[in-house]
Amino acid sequence: MAVDGVAFSRPVIVPEARAATDQVLRSGWVTTGPECVAFEDEFAAWVGAEHAVSVSSCTAAIELSFRALHLPPGAKVLVPDITFCGAVGAIDHAGLVPVLVDVDPDTGMVSAGTCAAAARACGGADAMMVLHFMGYPAPVAELAAAAGVPLSRVVEDAAHGLGTWVDDQPVGSVSAATCFSFYATKNLPIGEGGMVTTDDPDLAAWVRRARLHGMSSDAWRRYLPGGSWRYSVTEAGLKANLSDMQAAIGRAQLRHLDRWQRRRAEIADRYTAALAQVPGVEVPLTPVRGRHAWHLYVIRVRPELGLDRDLLIDALDQQRIGTSVHFIPLHHMPYFRQVSEMPSAGFPGADAVFRELLSLPMHQGLTDDEVDAVCAALVRTRSHPTPQEVVQ
Ligand SMILES: Cc1ncc(COP(=O)(O)O)c(C=O)c1O
Repeated sequence: MAVDGVAFSRPVIVPEARAATDQVLRSGWVTTGPECVAFEDEFAAWVGAEHAVSVSSCTAAIELSFRALHLPPGAKVLVPDITFCGAVGAIDHAGLVPVLVDVDPDTGMVSAGTCAAAARACGGADAMMVLHFMGYPAPVAELAAAAGVPLSRVVEDAAHGLGTWVDDQPVGSVSAATCFSFYATKNLPIGEGGMVTTDDPDLAAWVRRARLHGMSSDAWRRYLPGGSWRYSVTEAGLKANLSDMQAAIGRAQLRHLDRWQRRRAEIADRYTAALAQVPGVEVPLTPVRGRHAWHLYVIRVRPELGLDRDLLIDALDQQRIGTSVHFIPLHHMPYFRQVSEMPSAGFPGADAVFRELLSLPMHQGLTDDEVDAVCAALVRTRSHPTPQEVVQ
């Protein structure tokens, strides 16, 4: 079938989600309530964690998870230099100091070596955020051990990691807290929303209170038959609860997640089969152990082979192929240079990787024809010399 342009991402919302939201709208209770409770239980079961607490975003999940560790103000937190700015902004908001860790130029992810070096250079890290970048499994326990940080002070950023397995375990219960995103482009799209999962009942209870102003009892519990109007506040909280409208969408979507994850893996295989032999293109690694969630399909565009990443983005855009770059290194951004600790040796790994990163369209609704159209456009562009090559 002829394909006229391919969007970088398109949220798939199943018809049952519409019916479920309609039911919530008619129920007379639209904010945090029974749908959130059910979504939390079902989500916890899906990732194999004891507890799940729904929140308004992964950004809020990260801030609340770090605050739940009760570290002293100014405590040092290792974070990858290549990650989403909001994730590190959340650490800053929690009153902690991000320590930017360089990435391995081969993987684009932090390694045991770069974590150990960053921990040494900052005089010892107090905590750590581990990112399952693109959905590729990060070896959480190994990275924490290399950094000298106990797992009880590790928070996982699993915004890309819903469906990721580290070895024989789904991401969600290894560290102190794992943070998920239901943003429009994520593997379980709601539009907005997030979740904290943990096996620690005290941490779950703390986040549950702190997501709603720190109140000891939320509105749903207060208005339940026999519920009391009384509540207290012992610590400052956020207004970061999820609504029953969003939870109803999430529950309907969750029933399709296994199938969607299989489809993402098929799409990744199809891209890899078509692109593995294209000169100048390096396809992403498939993990030997564990499971890739394939939130993103990120190729490396090798400049030494004459294919410039930025020109390629423009050329694909002209052919109505949407792409993106994940991520601009944090040390390129003035605010994070100001608030973070950074190695004196700079970030040779991140700078080398950043020039080459290119995220191709990836979502569960992508058809084989659309994948083929993206690959054909890439090959077609490659077969025309770029202005850089003409000059040479
Ligand atoms: C790696 C990473 N962490 C955190 C977030 C924040 O997620 P949210 O938009 O749900 O706050 C994102 C969002 O894109 C992300 O990519």
